[in-house]
Amino acid sequence: MEETAPVGPWEAEAFVDYDRLVKIFGARPLTESEVKSLEKVAGGSHIMLRRRVFYSHRDLDVYLNMYEKGVRCSLYTGRGPSGSTHLGHILPWFFTKWLQDRLGLELFFQMTDDEKFWHDERLDISESNRYAYENILDLAAIGLDYRKTHIIIDSEDIAYLYPIAVRVAKKITFSTQRATFGFTDSTNIGLIFYPVLQISMSFLPSELYKEETYVLIPAGIDQDPYWRIARDIAPSLGYPKPSQIHNKLLPGLGPEGKMSSSKPETAIYTTDPPEVGAQKIIRAYTGGQPTVELQRKLGGNPDRCSVYKMYEMLFEEDDAKLLERYQNCRTGALLCGDCKAELASRVRRFLADFQRKREAARDKVELYLLRTKFELPKRNVRKLLQ
Ligand code: TYM
Repeated sequence: MEETAPVGPWEAEAFVDYDRLVKIFGARPLTESEVKSLEKVAGGSHIMLRRRVFYSHRDLDVYLNMYEKGVRCSLYTGRGPSGSTHLGHILPWFFTKWLQDRLGLELFFQMTDDEKFWHDERLDISESNRYAYENILDLAAIGLDYRKTHIIIDSEDIAYLYPIAVRVAKKITFSTQRATFGFTDSTNIGLIFYPVLQISMSFLPSELYKEETYVLIPAGIDQDPYWRIARDIAPSLGYPKPSQIHNKLLPGLGPEGKMSSSKPETAIYTTDPPEVGAQKIIRAYTGGQPTVELQRKLGGNPDRCSVYKMYEMLFEEDDAKLLERYQNCRTGALLCGDCKAELASRVRRFLADFQRKREAARDKVELYLLRTKFELPKRNVRKLLQ
């Protein structure tokens, strides 16, 4: 019998059996030698690679091979702007920036204001569109280089994508869509069409550069269903199959679920006042025991602790200190209150600094937009008119 995945684009559990997920999705776990090859090409290491926050892939080896041969390569990732950005969203973007800097790659970034409008009953397209612009500030605060970062906003820039989308759409049946995304008879047809656009974007670099361009997509494993279809149809459309490198999901701060906009109290937003962010950490669920005595006696479980995962995935650069924290939690030497207080102060500092950078970027937003840098590919009618 076919297994169902506990993770998909519109929902996910918090503590997932990621090995099982890789098997269900048919991706490949990142091996030590693959990590080494990427580190060699990048000329350095990243905590998210060493700790396997980025932990599985498809054809990363093919991509690196092409890169080393000098074939044109680029990056692609995106965001569904349904609100403010939280720490889970920015996690893959930190790693994307590292790839951009280290490999000197151009990044194509999709803001799917249409997707979020179709998906969320309460959201108007004008709001998701406004969030698209707000979320660009987060990309700028991360330090993505606007000269090498090209953002498309679906509801405004569709003319870039539509010529690809019409061909992609013809390759995908409703039965594939239903089986891949779990659509039902009551799903609105906007959402049923939407995957075509997310898939089409992985072929846009080849069109814009007018040459075969290999694309690597660093993104959460929840986005994987799109790429399975993209890879299936790419050869018949004359594009290279896009490669992926998948990250695990940062858990929310509540008892269950990934960090998600649908549960705002369990997510830390980049726009939360620093003190609010810190308080969310203080109130977080942990893998600790219910009392100090029991914690001292039995120790906690960092593997199922949202606070420990924040250290591991984002807030502790030093591997030795992370290991010490892990062991001290296990043996009961470290109490949850102390562990949270330290994280709260790191989060407070991080938010203050990040928000300064966000505000400083307000007049640079346009520089990131693809439309300000790439001409629309010429079409027949326009040729006739020239
Ligand atoms: P969205 O806005 O849901 O998520 C944006 C990115 O954040 C990742 N993500 C997480 N990563 C770690 N921990 C979490 N708790 C967490 N929650 C979300 C997602 O995997 C994603 O990488 N449909 C997409 C928009 C999109 C896109 C793309 C994303 C269009 N093209 C290409 C990735 C790559 C969406 O709604 O993402």
